[in-house]
Order: sequence, then structure tokens, then C-alpha cells
Amino acid sequence: MKFELSDRVKDLPPYLFAQMDQLKQAALQKGVDVIDLGIGDPQDPTPDFIVEALHKASKKTHNHRYPSYVGMLSFREAVAKFYERKDVKLDPQKEVLALIGSKEGIANIPLAFVNPGDVVLVPSPGYPVFSSSTLFSGGRQVTMPLLEKNGFLPDLSKISQDDAHRAKLMFLNYPNNPTSATAPLEFYKEVIEFAKKYNIIVCHDAAYAEIYCDKRPVSFLEVPHAKEVGVEFGSLSKTYNMTGWRLGWVVGNENVVHGLGKIKTNIDSGAFQAIQEAGIAALLSDQKCVEDIRRVYKNKREMAVQLLEEAGFQVTPSEATFYVWFKKPQNFKTSGEFVTHVLDKTGVVITPGNGFGEWGEGYLRISLTAPQERIKEAVTRLATLL
Ligand code: MLT
Repeated sequence: MKFELSDRVKDLPPYLFAQMDQLKQAALQKGVDVIDLGIGDPQDPTPDFIVEALHKASKKTHNHRYPSYVGMLSFREAVAKFYERKDVKLDPQKEVLALIGSKEGIANIPLAFVNPGDVVLVPSPGYPVFSSSTLFSGGRQVTMPLLEKNGFLPDLSKISQDDAHRAKLMFLNYPNNPTSATAPLEFYKEVIEFAKKYNIIVCHDAAYAEIYCDKRPVSFLEVPHAKEVGVEFGSLSKTYNMTGWRLGWVVGNENVVHGLGKIKTNIDSGAFQAIQEAGIAALLSDQKCVEDIRRVYKNKREMAVQLLEEAGFQVTPSEATFYVWFKKPQNFKTSGEFVTHVLDKTGVVITPGNGFGEWGEGYLRISLTAPQERIKEAVTRLATLL
């Protein structure tokens, strides 16, 4: 028997990284020495003290039962303490909710606030889940192009009055995936003013907030009045090499946090409490492990950028995330064409910019999460193609 997919799934493009994984698996099966600079999935281990905390917590019988829907109060308090370092005050009871990774929260939030036909403002290029979650909710996506000439920030003055009035929610993400751009304080102030004027919920994805080279970029929630208009999604994935653990949070506007919580109680049963206890250990630690992680990425970035530029690639300067964003060579028509060529000729997996939306066309992204030597080898192989 063959069953027809729902319209919403028929309309859904394949998930970028699942598609890329298929290409990688096919190359591996052919015996190619594949170097994967595609997905942003740290290959270094989670720091030992966090693994130890999980080990201990996993032996506690009460952690084997259903977790709290909203997250353990001690985890929510740890998140609030983490934000205190940035001078952001949060009520752990009302303004913090644990998530099974920030992706989960981003995928669910439109269901809580968007009615069919409502506009969702989505950056392009951007994290693909912004678009798919909009589609699932029946919302209408209005794309905000992130252009190099604007520092990869959306130009809010280009959003039509009609779309702004119909908009319910705006997704933002800085430090930005995939462009690696950061946003200045002035931009966030403008966003808050815009959101107040049109009654829009700002959903800021801050998954890369702790991954920067020298100066910590300001984040949305640190800006005065941000909490009145929105929330910030955070994650332990990138900060502590914990992508597989699935633990994150949403913090900020009480009403928005509550709305997402209501959806979640009907969909999932919360994050494994032993993982939350490990998360507490990470968040309350002296953050020395994060300094080490940052240093590793800084070194890899400097090396990769230098090799790419020496080879003739045009690289976007950046101080944050673990991605490098650069232009495709002119003799290839599309980013996708170049990516396929690179995999065929060199066994290196890189991500086409248009996989993040139409405004990513013409660009490529590499992730610095592979070991330094493998990145060097991969970029050296890329250089042979120019
Ligand atoms: C990416 O490579 O863009 C992200 O790591 C994917 C994700 O976080 O789901």
C-alpha cells in the first residue's frame, strides 16, 4: 500500500543536512576519503566534568522517570545565573523554559502564535528550520534578504507596511549561521522599535552566542526592552560540544515562553533530567572549557581563511561562529554546482549557500568543527580546483 503524504510535507523541501549526509554516505561507499566540512557538529568531545555529571545523575532513580515539562527548576535557575553574567535578569519560574535543543523550540514556536495566513519574517540565508516551522504552522513566509552590503543584517525599512502589519513573528540569528556575521547594539534597538510598532514577537536564535574570536558580541536579550517583545533561544550544543545531548532553553517574554510551553506539554515530555543536571554543571562552571573551545576555533579560522584567500577565494571577514562564508568561483553557475564538483573531485563536503535560502546563492559555507589537520587537508584540496 502507498499512502499519500500530507500537503504540508509534500511542500517541504528535504532537510539540507539530511540531503548532504546522503551525498556523503554515497561517496564513503565508493571508498572516497571524505572530509566533512558540512554540518556544524563539533567533533571534539564534551568536557569531562560534564560527562561525569551525567554519569552521576544517570544513577539517580528519580531521574529515570518523566522529567518536568518545563525543565527542572535547578536547570532553569542555572540558565538564569548564566544570563546574570551578561547583566540580564530572568525569573526562572516564568521566563525560562528547558528545550530538547534549541531546534526543537524554533520548530514549535510558530505553532503557538501563528495562525494560517499570518506573516512570519524569515532571514535568507538562514537556518532552514525557520522556514519549515513557518510552513508547518500555515504561516506565510516573508523573506528578509541578508545582503553583504548591509553586513548581512536585514533592512527593516524594506519590509512592506502590509507585511509588517500582518507579521506575527520575526526570526533572527546572530552570531549568524551561515554568514558568520554579528549584529551591533544599534541594530537590535531598531528591531525592538519595529517589533513594538507592529506588535511582532522577536525570536532570536542565539545558538552561537558564545562562539567568538576575541570580543563577545552583544546579544538580543541584553538590549533594554528586548524582553517586552521577544525571546532568545540558547543551546549547550555548540558552546560545550554537546550537539548529541539535545539540551537548550528559551528565555525572555513570559507570555511567549508560556505559549511555547503549552505546545510542548502536548508534544514531548521534557529533556532527560540527568542531561539537565549535566547542563547545570556546564552552565555554572567557570567557563574555562568554553575559553579553550573558542581558542581552538580561532586558530582554525585563521588557518582556513588564510589558505582560502591564498587560493583565490573571496572570504567574508568574521569574528564569530565556527563557520567560514565565502564566494563561489565565478566559472561555476551555482553554489550547488560547485559543491557537487568539489565532492566529486576532492571528497570534501561543503555546504551550498542556497541551501539556506535563495539569498545564499553564490556563497559557500565550511564548518570548522573537523580536526585542524583535516580542515587544512580539505582546504588544500579545494585550492587545487581553482
Ligand atoms: C548547521 O550546520 O547549520 C547546524 O549545525 C545544523 C543544526 O544546528 O541543526
